[in-house]
Amino acid sequence: MKYQIPRGTYDILPEQSHKWQRIISAFRELAAAYGYEEISTPVFEQAGLFERSSGESSDVVKKEMYRFTDQKGREFALRPEGTAPVARSYLENRMDIGAAVRKLYYIGPMFRYDRPQAGRYRQFQQYGIELIGSDNPYYDAEVISLLWFYLSGLGLAKLRLEINSVGCPNCARDYDAALQDYFRPHLGQLCPDCRQRFELKPRRLLDCKVKTCREIAQGAPSQLDYLDEPCRKHFQDTQHQLELMGIPFTINPRIVRGLDYYTNTAFEVSYEGLGAQNSLAGGGRYNGLLEQIGGKNIPAIGFAGGFERLLLALEEEKVPLGNAPAPELFVVTLGEAAREYVLPYLNKLRLAGIQAEYDPDKNSFKAQLKAADGRRARHALIIGETELAARSVILKDLASGEQQTYPLEPLSVLIEAIRR
Ligand code: HAM
Repeated sequence: MKYQIPRGTYDILPEQSHKWQRIISAFRELAAAYGYEEISTPVFEQAGLFERSSGESSDVVKKEMYRFTDQKGREFALRPEGTAPVARSYLENRMDIGAAVRKLYYIGPMFRYDRPQAGRYRQFQQYGIELIGSDNPYYDAEVISLLWFYLSGLGLAKLRLEINSVGCPNCARDYDAALQDYFRPHLGQLCPDCRQRFELKPRRLLDCKVKTCREIAQGAPSQLDYLDEPCRKHFQDTQHQLELMGIPFTINPRIVRGLDYYTNTAFEVSYEGLGAQNSLAGGGRYNGLLEQIGGKNIPAIGFAGGFERLLLALEEEKVPLGNAPAPELFVVTLGEAAREYVLPYLNKLRLAGIQAEYDPDKNSFKAQLKAADGRRARHALIIGETELAARSVILKDLASGEQQTYPLEPLSVLIEAIRR
């Protein structure tokens, strides 16, 4: 019986790992510079947490959630996103006590059952941040800036930032009514999903990918014309802060986002040239979510992006992400006596932080040097009988061919030469 990897998932092979590590550590470093602390939550949660926050009518909950019942009949779901779990943890761990604002970041797998294609997987890795405890538009701009500078800092040029305001529940009520008035005469032409959306969540009508629905939606009223005064000001202040930072953006009133919890600012960063799945990251405010899941009325904002699409974009733009790390040192022995030295010697080098290797299956000098080459080692460390008698080793630079003799002990002299 041959087993296969589940559809829509992938292995990160050793040759690829360094690229992942590079973009993950760049995110960690930038998030820390902005004052964010890492949080990790379980990969599964009570299914109700997502139904309540993302919305029962959202595609993520309705069609894409991996649900399961455990041995005691409890309903769980593999997390499709990270915002609701972080909000749950914030409330459960009473993070509202003390600091006025909590800045949290996370990195980890999310799960959505969708038709796999380039840039869309059933298990994918998200990086994200959540800033909980303030409604200040200063933070809207700061959160967007972290995303912008992360992506542009990695070397991506063809980025597009689009922002919108979906208003507060007050504005949304008026807007939903206006949308229903607009779509009502076209109900017969809409797809079955959109006919449901018409009743439950008219704003989702703007997000439909079906051609006829998209065409009809083109003439729909804009959310921006239905913002009340405080929401309009919040949006303007956010834009002003973005302008102060010189971050280029366009306003796209069609950005509604696929999850139901958004209020006010909503944004997406896309990358030209990624095809259908070109959204690198997205986010927005969710001032009602914490209350919805049992907390107080606490405002919040955040974003998340997928590392897979980010890697595709970096590849498309030919941004170099370095090579898989090669050993600094490959030990080559000549004769039985030298072999006795290898393990204790390697231990000392490795514990001193030198990446050192040896191939005990190869006997001849030539075969060992070939193995060192194959592993792209920087140096060969030759321990032969003559050297041992003289209590010395030879360090050979494999690129230039230059070699020099060093004392066997103390190791510090050799280590210094390797690091030079
Ligand atoms: P989202 O737009 O559903 O938002 O997902 C954010 C990002 O995750 C997308 O822009 C995309 O890069 C990546 N992504 C989503 N689904 C897939 C998939 N099937 N395969 C590969 N990548 C995918 C959220 O998840 C919100 N929690 C963001 C947020 C945080 N809002 C406020 N705080």
